[in-house]
Amino acid sequence: MRAFVAEKSDDEVARGVRDFETPDGDGELVHVAWSSVNYKDALATIAKGQVARISPLIPGIDLAGTLDDGSEVLAHGYELGVSHHGGYAERARVPEEWLVPLPDGLSARQAMAIGTAGYTAARCVIALEEAGVGPQDGPVLVTGASGGVGSTAVDILAARGYEVVAASAGDASYLRSLGAAEVISREDAAGDASRPLEKSRWAGAVDCVGGDVLAGVIRSLRYGAAVAACGNTGGVKLPTTVLPFILRGVSLLGVDSVQTPIEDRRETWRRLADDLRPPHLEDAIAREVSLDELDGVLTAILKGEVQGRTVVKV
Ligand SMILES: NC(=O)c1ccc[n+]([C@@H]2O[C@H](COP(=O)([O-])OP(=O)(O)OC[C@H]3O[C@@H](n4cnc5c(N)ncnc54)[C@H](OP(=O)(O)O)[C@@H]3O)[C@@H](O)[C@H]2O)c1
Repeated sequence: MRAFVAEKSDDEVARGVRDFETPDGDGELVHVAWSSVNYKDALATIAKGQVARISPLIPGIDLAGTLDDGSEVLAHGYELGVSHHGGYAERARVPEEWLVPLPDGLSARQAMAIGTAGYTAARCVIALEEAGVGPQDGPVLVTGASGGVGSTAVDILAARGYEVVAASAGDASYLRSLGAAEVISREDAAGDASRPLEKSRWAGAVDCVGGDVLAGVIRSLRYGAAVAACGNTGGVKLPTTVLPFILRGVSLLGVDSVQTPIEDRRETWRRLADDLRPPHLEDAIAREVSLDELDGVLTAILKGEVQGRTVVKV
């Protein structure tokens, strides 16, 4: 089969399309139709990326396609594209317990436009709502809002009736077109780090950034509010105090997309096709590329030059 392969030799990783044996062994054979490009995929193809656990590796942390019986499935996370061959190939061997039936109402291409990023956004929204946050409570903040996770979170939250404030250094008009009521700067979201608490602003928040921005969000949550934290583009440190937690009863909710138990994952995808569906799904697809065009996109995403989602037509 044709596959895009990353193979380590000495301190270098060679990557490109080549013939590769269809992975055998346990698991279902998926005829891959679509995959997508994530930052983590690019890290899996560079020597210092610390993502690839095997070599050679077929990267691609998410995929959608059909089984031999014609049923449509998708898969992402767990070990895909990390220590188990992923979506950048005509076929993939995927353990049954990693497979999600493609939900009614979503095409395989749309599912990959959502991909790991959109799935993570949905998990953040679910976490907030399970913590009791609702549209009537007041403004919710999304940080790193122009990224894959952030923009989908804006889209989903706005469609559910939330007043969404986007914190971004990116394109404000794009975020307004997704439904953001207001766009503020990263600095505004990060606030004044010298203060233990700041003005109560947010009824909830989705944070893709971490670091000083998440610390600022925590200091600005309203009484009893919650922030779903899923990312670290602004750093892994969290310089906070206990005061927002013990004086305002706020909650910090961790969100992981990789190891979600499969039943929760299947239910989240059902909802992504239904009440959590991002209405601007098609607009989010910035590019469609083939396996042969992957190399350039992987380089660009590492340089921060890719906006919106890139789907891969396998
Ligand atoms: N928990 C999980 O399972 C999971 C799953 C998927 C992704 N993630 C993580 O979630 C984060 C977002 O992922 P993504 O796919 O949305 O990435 P992305 O498309 O690269 O977007 C990240 C956004 O973060 C903002 N940003 C970048 N550098 C920044 C900096 N130095 N300081 C402050 N903001 C910065 C930018 O937003 P603006 O230009 O709008 O400011 C950027 O668009 C990443 O850290 C990723 O690793 C976690």
